[in-house]
Amino acid sequence: MKNRPFWHDRIENAWKSRAVLWLSGVRRAGKTTLCQSLTEVEYFDCELPRTRRQMDDPESFLDGLRGKRVVLDEIHRLDNPSRLLKIAA
Ligand SMILES: Nc1ncnc2c1ncn2[C@@H]1O[C@H](COP(=O)(O)OP(=O)(O)O)[C@@H](O)[C@H]1O
Ligand SMILES: [Mg+2]
Repeated sequence: MKNRPFWHDRIENAWKSRAVLWLSGVRRAGKTTLCQSLTEVEYFDCELPRTRRQMDDPESFLDGLRGKRVVLDEIHRLDNPSRLLKIAA
């Protein structure tokens, strides 16, 4: 796999000063692969119905992730993505 040091550094630096980062790009640009290669992240694929069900109750979902870095891939698949992000932030 090709390393992406530019994007790794950019994400890590931005994460120091922001609670929420938004990663956008065309399909198959490598967003998922990049996020999964970050260290110390809890990765969730919102494409999966089971994952979406976990997020139906945002507070209890986030309670279990306190202090952790969370990746929410395909977040647009949630019914109310901004509600989850606001509570998380
Ligand atoms: N850094 C990389 N090195 C090699 N292959 C990669 C890399 N990033 C992505 N790919 C490959 O490109 C394809 C699309 O990547 P993916 O992460 O699913 O993109 P996206 O999430 O932006 O749609 C996948 O087959 C993946 O294995
Ligand atoms: Mg993807």
